[in-house]
Parts: sequence; C-alpha cells; structure tokens
Amino acid sequence: MPEFPLTVSQAMQMRRSTRAFLPTPIPRPVLEEVFTTALRVPSNCNTQPWRAYVVSGEQKDALKQALIEEAGSGRPPNSDFAWDVKFVGEHRERQFGAAAALYGTTGVERHDRAARQRSLLRNWGFFDAPHAVFFTMERYLGMVGAVDLGIFAQGVSLLLAERGIASCFQGALGMYPGPARRLLALPEEVGILFGMSIGYADPEAPANRTCTERVGLDAAVCFVG
Ligand SMILES: Cc1cc2nc3c(=O)[nH]c(=O)nc-3n(C[C@H](O)[C@H](O)[C@H](O)COP(=O)(O)O)c2cc1C
Repeated sequence: MPEFPLTVSQAMQMRRSTRAFLPTPIPRPVLEEVFTTALRVPSNCNTQPWRAYVVSGEQKDALKQALIEEAGSGRPPNSDFAWDVKFVGEHRERQFGAAAALYGTTGVERHDRAARQRSLLRNWGFFDAPHAVFFTMERYLGMVGAVDLGIFAQGVSLLLAERGIASCFQGALGMYPGPARRLLALPEEVGILFGMSIGYADPEAPANRTCTERVGLDAAVCFVG
C-alpha cells in the first residue's frame, strides 16, 4: 500500500478512471479541502468560470434514477455544449482500445449489444459512487471556458488521488442534462459541460482492473531547440 498523501508524480502515475465505487461517502471536510485547494488552479485571465455541484445522498439517488430512465429511453442526447465529435484515425483506434480494455476486464463481448448497453448505462448510475460532480459554466464561454473547467476538474481529480480517493471524468453526464438542470435549478445561460463520479474504489471490482496505454514521449512531445 502506498503512503498517503501521495506526491503529485505518484498521484499522476497511480490514478485511473474508476468505474466501480464503494458506497462509503467522502467526509464533507475532505471534500471542502479538495475543492478549496483546487480553486488555486489557473484560468484564462483569472476568470474562474466554473461552478461545480457535488450531489450526494437521497438527491443523488433520485437523480441517478431519472438519468438512467432518460439515457435508457433511446432518446438522442441533448448536451448543453457541442460534444458530438466523431473520432477518426489514431484517435478512433485509441477510443476502441479504451473500450476494449474496459470490456476485457468486465467480460463484455464486443458483439453483445445488450451487455455493452448495460455497461454504458452504468455511467448514469454514477458507477455506484456516493457523489456525482457536475461541472458547469456560462454557455457563452465556449472553448475558452471548457479549457478552464478541464484544468479545474483535473486539479480536483489529482487532489482526490493524493488522498486515496478515486474518480471518473464523465462526458456522459453532460449528454442528458435535463434531470440535473432541474435539480440544480440552473438558469438558461448556464450549461453542464461534463461530470465526475467520486468516491472510494471498490478493490474487488473487475472494472477497476482496467488499464489503458499511452503513446511514448516521442509521439506526444517535440523538444525544439
Ligand atoms: C473529458 C473526459 C470525459 C470522459 N468521459 C467518460 C465517460 O463518459 N465515461 C467513462 O466511463 N469514462 C470517461 N472518461 C474516461 C476516459 O475514458 C479515460 O480517461 C481514458 O480511457 C484513459 O483511461 P484512464 O483514465 O484510466 O487512464 C472521460 C475522460 C475525460 C478526460
């Protein structure tokens, strides 16, 4: 077992997208410490355009039901932001690689559509996590705000990892924004960009043995001069 708190490098090396959580809630003071520290991340012109909603308890359970119903209804997604890119080339290959890694550990056969759908729907059940975070910003900010929200959320994710707490970024939580928008009473000009399930990883769950690969340094970074 590693010793907590981890260093930043250890947290980067050890973090994984976790897709099966124990029901144990994260103590509120820990959540407050993590989010307070994450507020120190940089943002464009220090605009700090994020507003994160951490949903827990009975409200989280009710939201989960509503989301599973909506996502399982076959209705098309209606994201608040454009989130409909079709990956091509090497991006598509890596997308398939990530899916294959998850299906491999969870025993989902590639051609078993029903099993794939069940696996996908677990997104809207927050993978049984005790907390679901929704990252929102004003719609007009577009790409500029999205960069800042990504940096903020990664800060949260690493600060959780530092403390042995797991997370999963979820674009899926922005795909059917209706139920969360209603719960959070979001004004029209604010949109949900993405979400994140957070909590303690279930050490027994096959999904949490999923391991994804990365390209080497040469393929991703050019040192010039
Ligand atoms: C912006 C963003 C959105 C993501 N959306 C989802 C999602 O909706 N569902 C999911 O299971 N994983 C989602 N992921 C997790 C990625 O699939 C995962 O980070 C990638 O496969 C690499 O695996 P790793 O995080 O375990 O290293 C998302 C990650 C990011 C950064």
